[in-house]
Amino acid sequence: MSVINVNHLTKDYGSGRGVFDVSFQVEKGEVFGFLGPNGAGKSTTIRHLMGFSKPQSGQTQIFGKDTFDRYFEILGNVGYIPGEIALPAGLTGWEFIRMMQNLQKRHNEEHLNYLLKIFELNPEGETKRMSLGVKRKLAVVTAFMSDPDVLILDEPTSGLDPVMQETFIEFIRHEKERGKTILLSSHIFSEVDATCDRIAIIKDGKIVSDFIADDLKHASQKNYEIVFTDEANYAKFIDNSRKSKILKAVGNDPKKKSVIISTDDKFINQVVATLSEYSVCNFSHLKETLEDYFMSYYKEDKNFGGALQ
Ligand SMILES: Nc1ncnc2c1ncn2[C@@H]1O[C@H](COP(=O)(O)OP(=O)(O)OP(=O)(O)O)[C@@H](O)[C@H]1O
Ligand SMILES: [Mg+2]
Repeated sequence: MSVINVNHLTKDYGSGRGVFDVSFQVEKGEVFGFLGPNGAGKSTTIRHLMGFSKPQSGQTQIFGKDTFDRYFEILGNVGYIPGEIALPAGLTGWEFIRMMQNLQKRHNEEHLNYLLKIFELNPEGETKRMSLGVKRKLAVVTAFMSDPDVLILDEPTSGLDPVMQETFIEFIRHEKERGKTILLSSHIFSEVDATCDRIAIIKDGKIVSDFIADDLKHASQKNYEIVFTDEANYAKFIDNSRKSKILKAVGNDPKKKSVIISTDDKFINQVVATLSEYSVCNFSHLKETLEDYFMSYYKEDKNFGGALQ
């Protein structure tokens, strides 16, 4: 049984906003990356998963328990960092930590001290006077201090400086090694690339892609740039590529006289043979990163990318 289960979740806020038929699972010990542009539906999905909102249809479960109906049964074993940190007014950092410990019903003072140390947090001051980064650190420490088995993190590093972001990535890797199940929503490609086993991309409230991170790194579909010596060769190639069964032109630049093609590894010999019929001055492999793949979903014009198709 999966630890996290989002099953056909729908919440329609009207005018095309909300989440629609969103499904994914996260297995024990897995780090699952949840990516998507602003307003895509990440926080909405996560809030339902945390049991704060009742799904219009579908279910959200953690440990096989419905999170809306059985919120108090799972709360103690789920650490959550909200997308927007809103701390109660009139408390010091310590008071906030103690209040959260009472709610979580699981105290682990040793783990708390360890977290305060690695995230270099001094919780003595009043929360309302804390900088954004310090508030974020307080949210990180309170989410992890009971050492929960499941971590649900909505853009956890926004507001942290680059050194603290590194510390956080190291910490996530360590937690994964300890068998924790982690859902991480993020806009930061390097963070997702460094930590996640599986990634889902959400756009306009719908999951548009769900894949194993390593598959993208080893995908057999690759992009190459070909630069032609002259206009005639460039134009002839573009014309012929429309009928080609072994390659697809996915981008071109008339000024550079270059074409970007996408092809599968199994056709590479035939592609090279085809190119020998043209006058070419450069042929290079374009390394497609997770960032390129993700960007292809950010941009409306989705010509470039699609490494998994
Ligand atoms: N309570 C609500 N009432 C009405 N519309 C809402 C509500 N909550 C979210 N929305 C809308 O649903 C869509 C998804 O919002 P959501 O906050 O889930 O996006 P997100 O992926 O977390 O974006 P970001 O990257 O900016 O945090 C947006 O269009 C938002 O305006
Ligand atoms: Mg959000």
